[in-house]
Amino acid sequence: MSKPLRLGLAGLGTVGVGVIRIVQNHADLLAARAGRPVEIAAVSARSRSRDRGVDLSGYAWVDDPVVLATRDDIDVFVELMGGEDGPAKAATEAAIAAGKHVVTANKAMLAVYGQALAEAAEAANVALRFEAAVAGGIPVIKALTEGLAGNRIRRVMGVMNGTCNYILTRMENEHVAYDQVFADAQALGYLEADPNLDVGGIDAGHKLALLASIAFGTRVNFDGVQLEGIQRISITDIEQAADMGFRIKLLGVARLTGRGLEQRMQPCLVPADSPLGQLQAATNMVVIEGDSVGQVVLRGAGAGEGPTASAVMGDVMDIARGFRLSTFGQKAASLVDVQPAQAATPAAFYLRLTLKDAPGVLHKITGALADAGVSIDRMRQYSHRDTAAPVLMVTHKTSRAELDHAIEGIVATGVTLEHPVAIRIEEV
Ligand code: HSE
Repeated sequence: MSKPLRLGLAGLGTVGVGVIRIVQNHADLLAARAGRPVEIAAVSARSRSRDRGVDLSGYAWVDDPVVLATRDDIDVFVELMGGEDGPAKAATEAAIAAGKHVVTANKAMLAVYGQALAEAAEAANVALRFEAAVAGGIPVIKALTEGLAGNRIRRVMGVMNGTCNYILTRMENEHVAYDQVFADAQALGYLEADPNLDVGGIDAGHKLALLASIAFGTRVNFDGVQLEGIQRISITDIEQAADMGFRIKLLGVARLTGRGLEQRMQPCLVPADSPLGQLQAATNMVVIEGDSVGQVVLRGAGAGEGPTASAVMGDVMDIARGFRLSTFGQKAASLVDVQPAQAATPAAFYLRLTLKDAPGVLHKITGALADAGVSIDRMRQYSHRDTAAPVLMVTHKTSRAELDHAIEGIVATGVTLEHPVAIRIEEV
């Protein structure tokens, strides 16, 4: 059998331990599939003494990940430390400079430095791969770069943060408020050390920016992602949206338009009976639309030991088999710099109003909508006991600018008791 592929593993948290388990438990299977053994030569982590439940005795221990990344006895540097820069970036750069292939799960680092790192990897003639960085165990990068390579991609969208989906689905299913479910998610260890990465949409925004680059052949532009988190989603909106046949999801959508690259990560309404609407708990879903294939839906675990390690090993196995692919599916230098679209594609909107209950109030509201050119598709007023009348509307497709103009007009009528809530309805 050929020479083994030797891994240097930096970061022995959940995912690192998962990679060790796969390499140890599936040694025969990996060797048979790759035509050569896949071995771990050396590891690095912050604490040497911590019991991780796996046998590390056969591996060299290296304190400094940069030293690990450049060792003569490794072929692939597996970066599982995380962090946008710092040791992860330093070690990745060192590995590339030393002619090592790199496999990473680090979405933050790639969303910011992906272009430079991909160019460096190409110049050094090594692979830089990151399947585990996007949607955990779902092989979405393979799907886009390989299986769908013959398609012009029209739209990529998905739920790519399991923690947010867990929070939103529990709020709906159990009728509990955001703060309570957030506290549960924290107790369960679902949230990142900085919870804003999850609930602020940043983690999912990183993933969307990476997918958009592959889908559209554009340079990664995380700063161009329009970001909005789930912190302001109320149980009222979840329940009212459900009543109108929708579910609220933190949805990422990317499309290349004549107006530029549209990348949005924001709470959206989707039909409750759609695959995205049906997605429960911490599961992820990515939907890809190609001109030839139509719509492809990928669903799976977006985080956790086994799923994320599975994605890491998919990249490792490509390298072991000698299969080479550019980081973003085409040469980094050929990726184009496209400006962010200034305005999102028009959509229908959910509009929740709390109005004074008095004669002529609805007349004023519909007048403000008409003045802004926004047309109503559906409308409901709920029975109520006090003087505040809850009114829900679904608009016809409109631009966000027109809708904002309408909301200004609605507020100016003086008949609203709370600021109107508007949430985009994404056609899925
Ligand atoms: N915190 C992420 C999630 C997983 O909840 O999906 C890592 O990106």
